[in-house]
Amino acid sequence: MPGMGAVATTFMAGVIAARRGIAKPIGSLTQMGTVRIGKRSDNNSPKIQDYIPIANMKDIAFGGWDIFPDNAYEAALRAGVLEKSLLSELKEELSAIKPMKAVFEQAYVKRLNGPNVKTGTSKMDLALQLMEDIKQFKATNNCERLVAVWCGSTEVYREAGEVHQTLALFEKGLELSADAISPSQIYAYACLKMGVPYANGAPNLSSDTPALMELAKKQGLPLTGKDFKTGQTLIKTILAPGFKARLLGLEGWYSTNILGNRDGEVLDDPESFKSKEVTKLGVIDTILQPDLYPDLYSNISHVVRINYYPPRGDNKEGWDNIDIKGWLGYPMQIKVNFLCRDSILAAPLVLDLALFMDFAHRAGMSGVQEWLSFYWKSPMVPKEGMHPEHDLFIQLMKLKNTLRHTMGDDLVTHLGDEHYD
Ligand SMILES: NC(=O)c1ccc[n+]([C@@H]2O[C@H](COP(=O)([O-])OP(=O)(O)OC[C@H]3O[C@@H](n4cnc5c(N)ncnc54)[C@H](O)[C@@H]3O)[C@@H](O)[C@H]2O)c1
Repeated sequence: MPGMGAVATTFMAGVIAARRGIAKPIGSLTQMGTVRIGKRSDNNSPKIQDYIPIANMKDIAFGGWDIFPDNAYEAALRAGVLEKSLLSELKEELSAIKPMKAVFEQAYVKRLNGPNVKTGTSKMDLALQLMEDIKQFKATNNCERLVAVWCGSTEVYREAGEVHQTLALFEKGLELSADAISPSQIYAYACLKMGVPYANGAPNLSSDTPALMELAKKQGLPLTGKDFKTGQTLIKTILAPGFKARLLGLEGWYSTNILGNRDGEVLDDPESFKSKEVTKLGVIDTILQPDLYPDLYSNISHVVRINYYPPRGDNKEGWDNIDIKGWLGYPMQIKVNFLCRDSILAAPLVLDLALFMDFAHRAGMSGVQEWLSFYWKSPMVPKEGMHPEHDLFIQLMKLKNTLRHTMGDDLVTHLGDEHYD
């Protein structure tokens, strides 16, 4: 994991706790989810982990990079997500996970600066140093396979430029240390070059460029992203499909939240927030399809705010005011007040993504993995201009059908008579 902050340490601590039987991996589809096989009347719904050959949680070794030298125990204490009593039980294992030196450029994360950072003669040189880290990590931990999940801070908003259009231009850009190449892109490049599937948990551009998609295809590697779907956007993608299913109109959706962790501090910078705003705003339009339903969804006021408010730490509080309209245009309102825990919602996604990406790699799937859209606020698509699927329930159906397809079983279409649906 590039980035060993709140999400990464909550994930690591959670997996260690779960494999010791101290707590349950709640929220993880790979650990707790089932998949129905065959007809309803067959009563055959194995657990996903028994159905597909995914790696066992017990066999995972953790590693990461961070600009701060704190080990995973210290970083978890600082993040303040998990209780101290739980962390002390896991202290020995967590303290042994020490971050490797990071590739960092403050122009991309303005609110942070740390000492545990590599220096190099060019961005290509930094990429080569990361590749060496990956090699070392694999050997030291005696790993058969690796997977990378970006859990680092949100970088500032940038659109893809010339240098991101092809692999050749990108590699030239690395040699010339092009300003437009961000640290997260250097990690993605290094991982893909080393044969490591890559998932991007943050909203910034990172691997979502033609150049890195070309590299993933060339290497036969899966790529997925971006921005873990947790908190307010998760709730949005649960509620919006329901309104559309009942053809209830939408006038406006105002979302605001307060957040006091380091992620909140980074997002307090308008340029990093812009990356987040773009991934959060895309969701409603794609679900509601205003072009097909102009009377219901063509004039929506959609506002998203994040306010950095230190007293709350990782325990975010979100408020949504939703103005809907029903029969004859009569207005109604829904208020949602979600007192959530950001990293508690994100940690199981890191586990699932790591296991599914490793599975995808072994199953020969390469390029953008749309069946993993389920996990993302802004799912990557293989070609610019294609619409991502945001509806959580369609995403889940696609994910499970992909598993059935990979295992050679019939897809569940919910068609047909009582024996077949
Ligand atoms: N928690 C959620 O619900 C959630 C949801 C969606 C996306 N995310 C994203 O996940 C990421 C992690 O969130 P978090 O709450 O753990 O944040 P965090 O601030 O606690 O952790 C991020 C870590 O990344 C490190 N970092 C920054 N740049 C780096 C670099 N170039 N190389 C290595 N390390 C670097 C920071 O020092 C920090 O320790 C953020 O980008 C956040 O926006 C989180």
